[in-house]
Amino acid sequence: MTDKTPHYDLLIHGGTVIDGTKAPRFDADVGIVDGRIAAIGKLAGHTADQTLDATGRIVAPGFIDSHTHDDQAVLSHAQMPFKVSQGVTTVITGNCGVSAAPLRDDMELPMPLNLIDAPAQGRYTTFAAYLDALRKTPSSVNVAALVGHSTLRGVAMSDLDRPANEAEIKVMRALVEEAMQAGAIGMSTGTFYATATNATTEEIIGVGQPLSARGAVYVTHMRDESDQIMEALEESFAIGRALDVPVVISHHKAMHTPNFGKTKVTLPFIEETMKHQCVSLDCYPYTAGSTMIRTDRGMLDNRVLIASSVPHPECAGRDLADIATEWGVSKDEAARRLQPGSAIYFVMDEDDVQRVLTFDESMIGSDGIPLGDKPHPRLWGTFPRVLGHYSRDVGLFPLETAVWKMTGLTARNFGLHGRGTLKTGQHADIVIFDAATIRDTASYETPARPAEGIDSVIVNGQITWEHGAHSGARNGQVITRSDKVAR
Ligand code: ZN
Ligand code: CU
Repeated sequence: MTDKTPHYDLLIHGGTVIDGTKAPRFDADVGIVDGRIAAIGKLAGHTADQTLDATGRIVAPGFIDSHTHDDQAVLSHAQMPFKVSQGVTTVITGNCGVSAAPLRDDMELPMPLNLIDAPAQGRYTTFAAYLDALRKTPSSVNVAALVGHSTLRGVAMSDLDRPANEAEIKVMRALVEEAMQAGAIGMSTGTFYATATNATTEEIIGVGQPLSARGAVYVTHMRDESDQIMEALEESFAIGRALDVPVVISHHKAMHTPNFGKTKVTLPFIEETMKHQCVSLDCYPYTAGSTMIRTDRGMLDNRVLIASSVPHPECAGRDLADIATEWGVSKDEAARRLQPGSAIYFVMDEDDVQRVLTFDESMIGSDGIPLGDKPHPRLWGTFPRVLGHYSRDVGLFPLETAVWKMTGLTARNFGLHGRGTLKTGQHADIVIFDAATIRDTASYETPARPAEGIDSVIVNGQITWEHGAHSGARNGQVITRSDKVAR
């Protein structure tokens, strides 16, 4: 813009900016041109094609969901209402070792590879094909994708109940290389799950070699989040050191009653390790987790809510204990009859959840699973719950910190260049919300409900959500490694 009186595509005026860096809020207008932030300051008198009045509202960077399973949803539910409605403008896909690519049409998807609702036909056999599909039919949110190690095992190995041999490691390594060249931002593992419990540390290091040259992230749903959590952290850090790449610990938690309070030990250990190597972590603001229906590892010891069931869809939203009583069988047997499906497990302690949320370096990630009518409420409620319930009502941290944990910090940890903060030149991913009223309304009983207090959500300069309704805009971009700053 060389003109003396700039003209904007979109002008947000009268708001209070929280810029995603943890800096104190300040009053300013924001001008947008060509999908980028062109100016922040007093812009009164400047003209624009479209204006938004943000008086009395917070203007913040669009939220980045650091942990999602939206790989297929960004194509099949391209408007992504469950994310856009809470202010999310970017999702990191391919977590927990599970990604939508590469897959083969003729391969079965054992739990948890079926966390992603991949079609039986027309799957993406290469990572490049997946990202191309997303470019051709954009979603309403930006996507930065990880490639999943369990998915690679499914492609490369005939039998997942053992470590990979040299030849299989070589095949998987080549697939990681292909994903990196196509633009994947890193690799995830999920050694907690049967599809990868038999993978050794050496296997993961062997498969992850292509990450090293690029400093791409290694993201992990660790082998253990309960009795052996310290060993699991050590293994994750060792893999990060061997590959010389940043490590992201997914959905950090201490699971099951005997381990309640363990975050008093894990967090100082993580903090100490951060002094020597690049480590980060994410978490969701709930005491219940959610994954596929499983009967092992004490998963059925506490309250279990069925989220979805293929053979018994009528059981979605019901307590496993009630179903078992009605059927006159054990909880174990009832769970087996309900498989395949997904469930919500009440396995965490509120004090641990708050301790992890409050830990300065913790990012916010929903870990939502976009399957069925009764998903875990985190799918719709994570971000407003942190801003409303935990920051404003419980007072765990200032709003500036809450916003940073879902924007600037996340962009830094995943190397998402040009996003996560409000500055001139940045991509115009913006959320406008009311700090006094923002709250999650999604509950375990009624989980598919949009947040209150979100005025507008802007993705790459386009208004995508306004006053409780989707605009239909699908202006999301694929964020690839080539967009990254060199570390
Ligand atoms: Zn996970
Ligand atoms: Cu996950």
